[in-house]
Amino acid sequence: MSELKTYSQSPVEHKFVQDPYSFYTKIKKSGDYFFWTDFDRLCVRSQRAVSAIYKDKRFGREIPRSLKSSPPTHLEDFHRIEEHSMLEKEPPTHTRLRSLVLRAFTSRRIAQFDKELEILCRQLIDNFSGDSVDLLPLYAQKIPIIIIARLLGVPEEMSDHLLSWSNKMVAMYQARRTREIEIEANTAAIEFNAYITNYINKRRRSPKDDLLSNLISAEEKGEKLTTAELVSTVVLLLNAGHEATVHTLGNGIKTLIETQRATEWVKPEVIKQTVEEIMRFDPPLHMFNRYAYQDIELFDLKIKKGQEVMLMLAAASRDPEALDEPNIFNPLRKPCAHFALGAGIHFCVGAPLARLELQKSLPVLFNCFPKLELKETPIYANLYHFHGLKSLKVNI
Ligand code: HEM
Repeated sequence: MSELKTYSQSPVEHKFVQDPYSFYTKIKKSGDYFFWTDFDRLCVRSQRAVSAIYKDKRFGREIPRSLKSSPPTHLEDFHRIEEHSMLEKEPPTHTRLRSLVLRAFTSRRIAQFDKELEILCRQLIDNFSGDSVDLLPLYAQKIPIIIIARLLGVPEEMSDHLLSWSNKMVAMYQARRTREIEIEANTAAIEFNAYITNYINKRRRSPKDDLLSNLISAEEKGEKLTTAELVSTVVLLLNAGHEATVHTLGNGIKTLIETQRATEWVKPEVIKQTVEEIMRFDPPLHMFNRYAYQDIELFDLKIKKGQEVMLMLAAASRDPEALDEPNIFNPLRKPCAHFALGAGIHFCVGAPLARLELQKSLPVLFNCFPKLELKETPIYANLYHFHGLKSLKVNI
């Protein structure tokens, strides 16, 4: 058995938040794993080990029963929603929930947004005024939330509320979590739940051709989603469906401007590769956890039953043993394997939609503004394991 290297690095230190990749370069000496003292967790760094754990059924996201405890009262409503989220489940419940969602979330439905996305992007750009704009609220945030609201059949006027509930709930996963953040997340969960339950009841009475109506009627082997499962699924789709896309888009625009070759990288023949490279190079989600469901020996390390391991997705996507010059942005690299969308049974359900949103919105933006430049150095928000910009001010 090899010796486990230990590193300490505050996840809220400004320098780290702005550039976690220097830390990832440092830890590459540790081999497949390292122990991160600030998180008090075993972390998995290499591409081969992250890939192996993602595929291994002896690991899973659901908290083992022996480690489960009742949530504190001030977080009960938040946990009630999480409890039925497919992201927090393993088979057979996960299989049932995921296949019901996939029945409603079809590629035909997503392809319908092809033209609509271009129109939406142009409309947003038409609303820009002045010589400089903040692309984060005016472009990157708007596209995913409007599209996911349209897809689900939730009124677009609700976008600001959805954004606010979602931001407060997602804030729970950051390293800087405080009691105040927890209380806000729980209140958001109560309001979100009430709104979505009301909406589900409306759609039950009068179904439409939207994802929500399809989720209500979707049936797998005689089983349907319960109301609690429907609420959790809609909240998950809304939360997962925009936060990560907003920041992939924001980080991607910043990266493309910095290359000074943006118009070249958004050409039709290369845009798909550019989007994959953006997700590899500067993704918004840097770490996800898994639990070992039994004692496991993997790549020279003994992992104990019940032990939590952190999969360092962004570090694995820049593993120097798996790809050449990992710290250089190069859409033409081959192959461009990355973990931005996860892998295994929890692989991102929204991947085709996220990819389409990025493949459409980047060319529209850079073709309208080929001389786009940063007005100031963008700052990443202090929300690790989330990695997204606070603002993205550009001269257009
Ligand atoms: C570029 C944008 C996106 C990124 C980077 C992203 C990333 C991820 C990652 C890393 C996972 C796996 C988490 C794990 O391994 O524990 C995941 C799962 C998931 N994502 Fe995404 N996502 C994006 C967009 C979306 C969109 C647009 C939707 C929905 C409309 C969505 C819905 C989901 C759902 C429902 C899951 C859970 C799947 C399961 O548990 O089986 N995501 N996403």
